[in-house]
Amino acid sequence: MSSLVKKYIMAISGFVLSAFVFVHMIGNLQVFMPPSAINDYAYFLHHMLPWEVLWGFRFTLLAAVVLHVWTAIQLKIENAAARPQSYQVNASVVATPAARYMAFSGMIMLAFIVFHILHYTVRSTHPEFKMFMTMNDDGEKMFDAYAMMIYGFSSEFWYVSAFYIISMASLALHLSHGVSSMFQSLGLRNELWRYRLNAFAAFYGIVLFIGFSSIPAAVLISEKTGVQLLQTKPVLEGVKSWDKKSPIITNYENCLSCCPSSGKVTK
Ligand code: HEM
Repeated sequence: MSSLVKKYIMAISGFVLSAFVFVHMIGNLQVFMPPSAINDYAYFLHHMLPWEVLWGFRFTLLAAVVLHVWTAIQLKIENAAARPQSYQVNASVVATPAARYMAFSGMIMLAFIVFHILHYTVRSTHPEFKMFMTMNDDGEKMFDAYAMMIYGFSSEFWYVSAFYIISMASLALHLSHGVSSMFQSLGLRNELWRYRLNAFAAFYGIVLFIGFSSIPAAVLISEKTGVQLLQTKPVLEGVKSWDKKSPIITNYENCLSCCPSSGKVTK
């Protein structure tokens, strides 16, 4: 396979992943709305989307990650073999820090993705996660993704929040070079557009960093200062009094679908 084809594969898989993270961030930011918003969203993804769509989407993401990493390794090996020593020294002088640390930031992202899927999709890191339950407007029992996110980023697991925030900084660094070089690989970047695309890529990385990191940061601020940006109190009290057998049902304040006052939740 030629280097050009590999560059195309890298750019297209990078595009799929960069678009996914933006949509994922918007979905996650619903955590700042009443808890029913993110819980209904999680319910929709798991129970209302046809399974072919959900698994087709997961397979596309997995294929994009595998192809992106594989072409990155291949191109790195080819570049190292083709490049004379003197150019290597020069290149590192002119390259931006984001460009120089692409492999490093990429490896942090890969480690993050593996941990993140075990943490929130497989839910194998905390036995409590599978016990968080709530009710929807129709009185159906459903998984409480809101409580899982609050507990997962609570101060008891401060090191998890720290790892997320470091990973989000790596993501921002990776994309601040990657988004612009994606256009270069596809032959869509000229000298005039280079600066604009570099600025857009940096902006995109910063937006993602702020959007994603705001979630663990808001959990810690709410828990430690009492400023309830998120409803940490009812979730953490529910975990404390959990009998290790029955579901953990949280009584949230100011929400329509999950308060005891709505008459739909029984303890
Ligand atoms: C603060 C940051 C983040 C939070 C709070 C978060 C939250 C979540 C949650 C709750 C899920 C489980 C969804 C479900 O099964 O209902 C999930 C799945 C996932 N997240 Fe994130 N996420 C974050 C950042 C990221 C980033 C930066 C990436 C990619 C680099 C990412 C990639 C994924 C993937 C691939 C899945 C699996 C999707 C699936 O189950 O089909 N997440 N995330």
